[in-house]
Amino acid sequence: MSATPTKPSRSITVPDFVKAKSEGRKLSVLTAYDALWAKIFDESDVDALLVGDSLGMVVQGKETTLPVTLSEMIYHAQMVTRATQRALVIVDMPFMTYQISPRQAIRNAGRILKETGASAVKIEGGETQAETIAALHRVEIPVMAHVGMRPQSVRKFGRHSAVQRDSEQLMNDAKAAEQAGAFSVVLELIPRQIAAQITQALTIPTIGIGAGPDCDGQVLVTPDMLGLSGFRPKFVKQFAQLRETVQQAVREYTREVRSGVFPDDSHSHH
Ligand code: KIV
Repeated sequence: MSATPTKPSRSITVPDFVKAKSEGRKLSVLTAYDALWAKIFDESDVDALLVGDSLGMVVQGKETTLPVTLSEMIYHAQMVTRATQRALVIVDMPFMTYQISPRQAIRNAGRILKETGASAVKIEGGETQAETIAALHRVEIPVMAHVGMRPQSVRKFGRHSAVQRDSEQLMNDAKAAEQAGAFSVVLELIPRQIAAQITQALTIPTIGIGAGPDCDGQVLVTPDMLGLSGFRPKFVKQFAQLRETVQQAVREYTREVRSGVFPDDSHSHH
């Protein structure tokens, strides 16, 4: 096993992340899956990088996140932590690596922290995962919970884009996660009024995705917000149109190679 990477002291810690709520600072979180992009995001002032199991869909081209394995998450998380100096790195626990028992969750979350140098794990669920969150909290593994639309439950919901509207269940899930020791909770695809009520009721930061502006922070899947993936539901704002930029660059390169314009003398060794 390789040595755990050490983080410089200026990096953002779990307590720093939690403190942002009482200081009224909104938190900016983005997904990252490799060293190339993680370095760019880390240098651009983001508070946290989530190595999301969304990598199954946006990187591996699969239909759902369900096939993603623990080894794949560790492989991608190692790339991200290697390139990250400042942002807090949180790693998703993939489907069926924590649902079987709290012992299984501790073993696998422990591997993630030991082998990647990340600071925390994320698991999907609130009330139903309270025992597991508490078990991880007891062994001092920081946990971000994820309630509302949970992509690992796609077979139950039938699709990924179902907005969750059961306000009582959503509140119970978020409160159960906080009481069990989660340091933060992702609220995915829920009406903004419910997200606002949950955010008010909790002392830990809520991080919204499709949950409106009143959460303590926001997370987006980076290829979506950069306009790379072409995935553009209502809750995604494209902050750049990189797909067009990349396609234009590749077309121009191809044209210049075919016409003999590139490489010219200035790109040649003498
Ligand atoms: O896997 C992921 O990228 C996530 C975010 C959408 C929150 O869970």
